[in-house]
Amino acid sequence: MGFFSDLFSFRKKRESARIDSGTVNSANNYASAASTNSKNSYGSGSNSRPSHRFDSGRRFHDIEDVSYMFPNDDEEVDRIHQQHWIVRHIMKGNYQSPVHDKLTKGIVVLDSGCGPATWCLDMAEIYPASTFHGVDAYPVFPAEVKPLNCSFTLANVADRLPYPENHFDFIHQRLLIFGLTRTDWRNAINELVRVLKPGGWLEFLEADIEFVNQGPKTARVMNAIFQHFMIKDMTPGIARELGDNFIEATGQIENLQHKVVPFPMNHSGKLGKLFWDDFNQACEALHAWVRQYDDEFDDLEVYKAFMKECKEECEQMKTDMIWHCYYGQKKQEQQQ
Ligand SMILES: C[S@@+](CC[C@H](N)C(=O)[O-])C[C@H]1O[C@@H](n2cnc3c(N)ncnc32)[C@H](O)[C@@H]1O
Repeated sequence: MGFFSDLFSFRKKRESARIDSGTVNSANNYASAASTNSKNSYGSGSNSRPSHRFDSGRRFHDIEDVSYMFPNDDEEVDRIHQQHWIVRHIMKGNYQSPVHDKLTKGIVVLDSGCGPATWCLDMAEIYPASTFHGVDAYPVFPAEVKPLNCSFTLANVADRLPYPENHFDFIHQRLLIFGLTRTDWRNAINELVRVLKPGGWLEFLEADIEFVNQGPKTARVMNAIFQHFMIKDMTPGIARELGDNFIEATGQIENLQHKVVPFPMNHSGKLGKLFWDDFNQACEALHAWVRQYDDEFDDLEVYKAFMKECKEECEQMKTDMIWHCYYGQKKQEQQQ
């Protein structure tokens, strides 16, 4: 299926899921939460909604130990859903690890920081014999209507995860750059390795927010964001650092592969335009932070007008955002 038919069929499914909420919809294997609760039985994860706050007209989480910068309102959920199809198309698939045959036969999968669960829902439909567990610090994932082979849990991935050791065959994590501090990254990776089975695959996909062919206007917006990263000890270069400084550092992953893919920002055809739209919406979603570090962007309309200038600049300079995918296998346990 092509990009637009995927997006269209997903949107239709979401709409029907909203209408059918609470009922079993056997046609697309969706069911109400009540019938899938038994799969949600890991214990510590309660799916009650944590507190939130409003800023710059958007709703943000207000969880003390979580540094995540993006809003969690419907507008952001729609952006993340749409982003999934762009990423899947440019990356030529939902994952890079060699797990297709295992997924087809049926394995247990975790999506760490699953957000509104677009990856899980897409994968659950493609691989009905596998089960998909999503975990996120904020319950933007579906509470009621979801496929029978999907379940979701509320937890901070930088804390102890509510799963037993050696549990998952495949763990996927995408775009946590705006959520984790340097210490969080270490804790989260150690936890993900703990809950991964020996021989299981661990995969990360992250975007490098230091762009290639970046012009001065785009750099100004990114600098405001970087300042926040520095203050919070977050890692703007995590996409480049993940392999050597974090994954290899666990000493528990082998066969580590690294794939690098440029995402065009408003150039090189339709996908470049779509990816620009996503980036632009993401920058608007971050206005609450950007304006703290650059007074001139205090007024949202001024900031939006500046983003239009950035759009032209990226087209002219052929700016690329580089995405990095890492995937490797947990070592077999040493014989005593
Ligand atoms: C940019 S979204 C990406 C969602 C999903 N991985 C995707 O690619 O479609 C990042 C998600 O990570 C979640 N997140 C951020 N920090 C987290 C943490 N410490 N623990 C659990 N989830 C976290 C956010 O709530 C958000 O849903």
